[in-house]
Amino acid sequence: MEDPGVPNYVRIFDTTLRDGEQSPGAAMNIDEKVEIARELQEMGVDVIEAGFPISSPGDFKAVQRISQELRECTVCGLTRARPQDIDVAAEALQGAARPRIHTGLGVSDVHIQYKLRTTREEALETAVKAVKHARKYVDDVEYYAEDAGRADPAYLYQVLNAVIAAGATVVNIPDTTGYSTPAEFGALIAGIRDEVANIDKAIISVHCHNDLGLATANCLAGVLNGARQVEVTVNGIGERAGNTAMEEVVMAIKTRRDTFGIDTRIDPRRFYSVSRLVSEITGIPVQPNKAIVGANAFAHSSGIHQDGVLKERTTYEIINPRDVGAPDSAIVLSARSGRHGLRHRLEELGYELGEEEFERVYGRFLEVADKKKTVDTRDLEAIVADEVGMFFQETYHLEQVQVTCGNMSIPTATVRITGPEGQTFCDADRGTGPVDAVYRAINRVIGEPNQLTEFSVQAVTEGIDAVGRVTVRIQAAEPINGALRRVFSGHGADNDIVVASAKAYMFALNRLIAARREAQGR
Ligand code: KIV
Ligand code: ZN
Repeated sequence: MEDPGVPNYVRIFDTTLRDGEQSPGAAMNIDEKVEIARELQEMGVDVIEAGFPISSPGDFKAVQRISQELRECTVCGLTRARPQDIDVAAEALQGAARPRIHTGLGVSDVHIQYKLRTTREEALETAVKAVKHARKYVDDVEYYAEDAGRADPAYLYQVLNAVIAAGATVVNIPDTTGYSTPAEFGALIAGIRDEVANIDKAIISVHCHNDLGLATANCLAGVLNGARQVEVTVNGIGERAGNTAMEEVVMAIKTRRDTFGIDTRIDPRRFYSVSRLVSEITGIPVQPNKAIVGANAFAHSSGIHQDGVLKERTTYEIINPRDVGAPDSAIVLSARSGRHGLRHRLEELGYELGEEEFERVYGRFLEVADKKKTVDTRDLEAIVADEVGMFFQETYHLEQVQVTCGNMSIPTATVRITGPEGQTFCDADRGTGPVDAVYRAINRVIGEPNQLTEFSVQAVTEGIDAVGRVTVRIQAAEPINGALRRVFSGHGADNDIVVASAKAYMFALNRLIAARREAQGR
């Protein structure tokens, strides 16, 4: 199939903005579409289907804006096999550096008979006319043989031969209803390569829907049999059960290069952020167990798995989360977690317990885990405080904190802190906001170099008088007992969020100082 002049890689045709937008409730405005399109271009997508220009003025404008803005990838507009659709698409694509018109018609008998109410012969004629019409405007014309998955292969071959002869550069073989199985779909693509005499003049594209949960498998079967373009969406969104998910296909091809022997031009490190962007804009959440980009895709819950992953990540992970831009693997503590996972999490939080203390904490942890689905940081801190007590001496005590801030003043904080020998320190500083000012003032007194790596605020009670709970994590800037960047967490609660922030920071700092003193034998 491949012409020696045509590079052999799998082209990624993204239809998030067209088929993806057909997901119920996923409508996007023009600016949102442009934002997603820019990200898709950045990650190396070859073709962006930006919309169906005749369908609405909004779609027309989206295709027009994206055509004007994106200079690297091909921008494509969808049409039915009707001259007016094609004229409007050509107009919307006018500014594109690489315009493509995507036109087509049903090829299955059920579509020809009930939807188009025509005959195979007439449908074939319409198809050829549409491609010729589109070629008057652009050199790149893709033809979709709608419902190819349920069509008579002999008729499909005839249509493909005719549209390629009429000038189609890409032929799209959609499994529109997600009906095919991987073996069947692979055989269909192999059949096209064997039976369509002029197939070497076009690229075969596959477009699989997920009604039976087989979209990714079918799409990959297409690639194995010679398809060199795949039509996908971010997170697999789309009509009914959705389209093939881009991240799944690309990572399968990459991870199993031994099987596919081919590559794409995508930078997978952008998958996670693009997935979140599309989810936020469309309002369609990503299911937690979604492959590659789900919140649980790199989370380990059972003790056996946690033990394995902590010893060597590849025991239970075939993809490094960083390769797809996801947060590092997570150890989720539950009733199924073991000692290794718990100790790891405690150490992450800055708790280094002796054997006996650890066993006590582990026993309590199991009791709590039996009652709750997952045991979070706050639970763990409560368990440790209960079982082991305040195992660090509070070196510095926050007596008073006062801030001035507002839209007309520079946030300024004053703190009064009692030191280890009972002496009182008072200092003040300015910051970008009230919390920043407080942290700077505390740092001026205590002078323990560290980096704030996490800051989160939660309302513990409801309403305007809610108690706010602040959790912080800080990283020691200097090694402690040879260990680099040790992390210490702290939390504080108060009706005043700035005071809660100060308490949380003091908590974490005191723990850091206690660990350093212990390491120095003081
Ligand atoms: O599923 C399908 O057949 C389509 C075509 C319009 C390409 O989305
Ligand atoms: Zn589709």
